Amino acid sequence: MANVLDEFKEVHVENKVDASKKLRVGIIGTGWIADAHIASYMKQPDVEIVAGADLIPGKAAAFFKKHGLKNVKCDYKDADDMLADKSLKLDAVSVCTYNRQHAPCAIAALNAGVHVLLEKPFTVTTEEAVEVMRAEKKSGKVLSIGFQPRLDDNMKMVKKIVESGVLGKIYYIQTGGGRRRGIPTPFGTTFIEDKTAGLGALADIGCYSLDMVLNAIGYPKPLTVSGYKSAYFGKDPNYCGYVAQGHPEYAKVFGVDDFAAAFVRLEGGIILDFRIAWAMNIDTPGDTIILGDKGGLRIPSTECWNGSIGGDLTIYHEVAGNQVETKIPMIPEKPGAPSNFDKKIRTFLDACKNGTPAPVPSSQILYNQAILYSIARSSDLGREVEVEIPEL
Ligand SMILES: NC(=O)c1ccc[n+]([C@@H]2O[C@H](COP(=O)([O-])OP(=O)(O)OC[C@H]3O[C@@H](n4cnc5c(N)ncnc54)[C@H](O)[C@@H]3O)[C@@H](O)[C@H]2O)c1
Repeated sequence: MANVLDEFKEVHVENKVDASKKLRVGIIGTGWIADAHIASYMKQPDVEIVAGADLIPGKAAAFFKKHGLKNVKCDYKDADDMLADKSLKLDAVSVCTYNRQHAPCAIAALNAGVHVLLEKPFTVTTEEAVEVMRAEKKSGKVLSIGFQPRLDDNMKMVKKIVESGVLGKIYYIQTGGGRRRGIPTPFGTTFIEDKTAGLGALADIGCYSLDMVLNAIGYPKPLTVSGYKSAYFGKDPNYCGYVAQGHPEYAKVFGVDDFAAAFVRLEGGIILDFRIAWAMNIDTPGDTIILGDKGGLRIPSTECWNGSIGGDLTIYHEVAGNQVETKIPMIPEKPGAPSNFDKKIRTFLDACKNGTPAPVPSSQILYNQAILYSIARSSDLGREVEVEIPEL
């Protein structure tokens, strides 16, 4: 007879992959993050990497050679060219292009009837995100946005704590993070030029801190935003990163933000206070805090949030008239367990194969993107704006 306590045990169900049914995968954009995608795909027993495309002639061929993959078709001039090749019989693609090329490549792939794993941030503008979602709806294919921290055990714990009700009604959130010095230019300028990135620190790492808290509270609709952004470090030829890399000229092409902050009103009477930086004259802009009428949660800061949380969680609450703190220790990484990135690839593939919902759905990340874009818009206009989201 089953022990009644078995019900409460966390059951680990081994996800058996049916390797006999292979998915034919292509990579669009073979730059920095594509390395992580291909490394993960190569671990999956049910994936055949059949094609790749990059705008830079020869880049895709060098990429597949570096990864020891032969027989991958990659003599295409761009994503459209690859997607037009019906002989590939593609099932799915990873879109690993810089931000400004997220929407066109994702739309082209969905229109070609291919499942899409789209790197973060979703897009640059809110309108673009809606256009991608229209293509998703028309195609009936899976579209998942590449937020691997969603699959981290500690990030899941943040959501579990909120959902447990221990914090009561949530009314205020402070989130963000950033680096003292960390403008990402190790491989050139695609993160800092307006024509490729569109948004800077705001979207690059801001999207993660927003997702952590918005996912935890169920993604309420954003209503208004008062936003600010600046670029004091990025436009300075003496910025230490440029000097160290021997590229003071990067300052001239810097066309995005290196710091952003905002005051956001969300549906349900929730206030979101946000700040993010690629560079700033402080070590951290503060921990993430979630305040409710029954308890408060402190999540120690990280510079980027693209992995896990920064330390043990603390819940501040009142028990029988006593103000007490409960520590929730960080869950350590399990040796040999798949990385968050591997889980991002696997959950996407499972959704493609099983026809199940996207692990990180566009319907949620639309609100993330709408906040980011509204911050930029509000900053440019110098006033609070209503968050505008076109009808699907
Ligand atoms: N999830 C993560 O942890 C993570 C980490 C780093 C970067 N990213 C995201 O990944 C994206 C790419 O970043 P990156 O560092 O690899 O950039 P990158 O500039 O190194 O690479 C992008 C590549 O896409 C190619 N490209 C652009 N448009 C194309 C098109 N239409 N067809 C074919 N190729 C095209 C470019 O030529 C370039 O080689 C960014 O949006 C970034 O935010 C995610």
